[in-house]
Amino acid sequence: MQFPAEPFKIKVVERIRKTTREERDELIRKAGYNVFNIPAESIYIDLLTDSGTAAMSDNQWAGMMLGDESYAGSRNYYHFESTVKDITGFRHVVPTHQGRMAENLLFSVAVKPGDVVPNNIHFDTTRANVEHKEAKAVDLVIDEAYDPESEHPFKGNMDLEKLRRTIEEVGPERVPLVMLTVTNNSGGGQPVSMANVRQVRELLDSYGIPLFLDACRFAENCYFIKEREPGYESKSVAEIARELFSYADGCTMSAKKDGLVNIGGFLALNDDTWAEKVTHLLILVEGFPTYGGLAGRDLEAVARGLREVLDEDYLRFRIGQVRYLGQLLDEAGVPIVKPVGGHAIYIDAKRFLPHIPQAQFPGQALVVALYREYGIRAVEIGSLMFAKKDPETGEEIYPDLELVRLAIPRRVYTTMHMNYVAESIIELYRNRDRIRGLRIVYEAPMLRHFTARLEEIQ
Ligand code: F0G
Repeated sequence: MQFPAEPFKIKVVERIRKTTREERDELIRKAGYNVFNIPAESIYIDLLTDSGTAAMSDNQWAGMMLGDESYAGSRNYYHFESTVKDITGFRHVVPTHQGRMAENLLFSVAVKPGDVVPNNIHFDTTRANVEHKEAKAVDLVIDEAYDPESEHPFKGNMDLEKLRRTIEEVGPERVPLVMLTVTNNSGGGQPVSMANVRQVRELLDSYGIPLFLDACRFAENCYFIKEREPGYESKSVAEIARELFSYADGCTMSAKKDGLVNIGGFLALNDDTWAEKVTHLLILVEGFPTYGGLAGRDLEAVARGLREVLDEDYLRFRIGQVRYLGQLLDEAGVPIVKPVGGHAIYIDAKRFLPHIPQAQFPGQALVVALYREYGIRAVEIGSLMFAKKDPETGEEIYPDLELVRLAIPRRVYTTMHMNYVAESIIELYRNRDRIRGLRIVYEAPMLRHFTARLEEIQ
């Protein structure tokens, strides 16, 4: 047995249809070779993101029917609040409609222009929210994170020496908080070890700087700690989570990941003054503090999802399913980032398509081929997303890593679907010489990957 079979059975199904190659060829042309422009109905297996794409359980759907839609004091809020407090131990819980609003609220009260906010690696929205406050977002992950072949078990760890040096250089008064993203999405969904969190905490204590977790995938991170970190093998994931949160002063959360819901999030924190300021702002931009931009039924679904995600049968299957797909690809020689992270497989497009230079977007070319040949949607995390012109020389600067992410939605696809994805990619790898590069014909001034239009180079 590679990994345990699905610890659920299926009560409701959603039809998916495989289009023909001719249809997809037409669709991808019309979409300007950008899969963000393809109607989801024309996709067979959608691995664009693991965010907001989970299948809720019968228990969560039953909870949705018990939504109390009172403007203030909904019973679902109290259930949500007590669940978050029980899992995290934080004193204040502020509901938000998704993760980036929690980031925006936190940074609005904590960050000033000229400040520096370290993280292992900031996720795009976290970085953008820090920069929106005219502060600097710096990534201080260990060097192994940038080596796709390094098998370090905790490639999401913060580099303590880089962190100490940064604080010394800018001065602790300009570092309002430090963040740790668990698991580290932008670095391949890699976990952070408990020892590392503890050491970061100790270092920050010596400067009086608060620590916040970007906790979107906290349960997956805790499962890796149980599997890989000595001393945790016989602790429950709930106990591990409680310890993890105990080293932090608060967290931002997109419940669209490990909350197992389609919308929702929160900010949780201990500081009374920050919590009060955040609450005032919440009323201005999201809603009353007992719903924060969500319906009562949504809060109920989050409360139930947060319990279900700690079920170790679920986590064993979840992490196992992602790893299984990674193993099939690895055994066939497809270059992927190793070790496999919690929520996604990252293909190394530079090594997959060595005949396509970065100026011709090998990652995006692979995304296009995956859709056109097999109806699978993935996302490029490479030069289309990150290449920038040097403001002085005008020269293009390309990112080190040219990746394609296959993010696996939670409880949505079966093992047969994973086999289909693996077989498709392996076949594509054998025929990789036929894949051609792309050139941009339209791009927006920022975040161009969402709306860019491209054409194939003949
Ligand atoms: N932090 C991390 C680590 C994330 O991965 C995301 C979202 C967010 C914050 C923002 O949360 O979308 O609820 O506002 N990641 C998604 C992804 C979009 O595809 O990786 P949000």
